[in-house]
Amino acid sequence: MTQHLRAEIDQVAEASIAALRAPSILNTQPWRWRLAGNHAELWADRSRQLDGLDPDGRLLLLSCGTALHHATVALLAAGFDADIARLTDPARPDLVARVRQGNRCTADDLLYRAIYQRRTDRRPFGDERPVDAVLDELRAAAERHGVHLHVVRADQVTAFASAVAHAGDVEHADPRFREDLLAWTTRAREDRDGVSARSTVTPTHRTIAPRDFDLARPAALDAGTGTDRGTVYVVFTVDAEEPANWVAAGEALSDVWLTLTVRGLAASPISEVVEVLPVRVALRRLLGGVGHPAIAMRIGTPVDGIEPVPATIRRSGTDTVGSPGQ
Ligand SMILES: Cc1cc2nc3c(=O)[nH]c(=O)nc-3n(C[C@H](O)[C@H](O)[C@H](O)COP(=O)(O)O)c2cc1C
Repeated sequence: MTQHLRAEIDQVAEASIAALRAPSILNTQPWRWRLAGNHAELWADRSRQLDGLDPDGRLLLLSCGTALHHATVALLAAGFDADIARLTDPARPDLVARVRQGNRCTADDLLYRAIYQRRTDRRPFGDERPVDAVLDELRAAAERHGVHLHVVRADQVTAFASAVAHAGDVEHADPRFREDLLAWTTRAREDRDGVSARSTVTPTHRTIAPRDFDLARPAALDAGTGTDRGTVYVVFTVDAEEPANWVAAGEALSDVWLTLTVRGLAASPISEVVEVLPVRVALRRLLGGVGHPAIAMRIGTPVDGIEPVPATIRRSGTDTVGSPGQ
């Protein structure tokens, strides 16, 4: 093997390791990387799909999209474009993409550093609203992936909040959903995945309450003094309800989230509103029927001096990266 090829392989392997930090639905980390030749294949891991919460696998593919984008950010930090082949092979529907080191470019590690700072922050944010210039930047980050970012207008927030609350009620009344929740909030430590009480927040009066994870243990994060008065709610929409669009929505979610982290903002996704079909349809109507809602998110300014949210657990490279046949 030439030294050049060896360096290329090392680079994509490193990118797949950085992608371990990507956010995923209930921290299921539903992907596998296979290193083959000079590229890495990204595979959706259906054994980690949530049958009750996500029967179509849309949030599974969104989560794969966040991992794909994280890998491209790692390549950019090393001074390479990512050469991505998006795959739609009916014989291998779970093969999401093939990633190779592309051309040399100017190294940029701004988003790469944000990979290690980004957290899901479910606490109420401060009164200061993110400025329009940053919201424009976030919109541009989503559009890079063909995904649109709609800011929920002030006069729509009440209807949006009712949609989130209603979706939560519908889900908690569904035993299949509760099974998923129980399975992924009671994972063994050595599984290195799932949601734990460490990243959940004590209850407080809120415009929109964070997802109720039904944890047996009390939430570990103090809600703090935030009011959510400056919080902005956004909805990512796609042009078609196709698997490729859900992957793109995940790439956009990652790009927007890392960008807002660089700008000193914080966020947490709200996916209940797309998980329940009638609520998703109502949300589409609320936004004027343009595009298909893929996921929503709350974005805000962290309260001054508040403790950082601790990093959540991840699997190791040996669990998620392998060679063909593994
Ligand atoms: C597709 C997707 C959907 C998510 N939905 C929610 C949600 O509805 N509520 C929530 O509090 N967190 C949600 N999250 C955040 C995950 O729970 C979080 O990424 C995971 O637990 C890992 O924690 P971290 O983001 O702090 O690294 C979602 C993440 C993704 C990628």
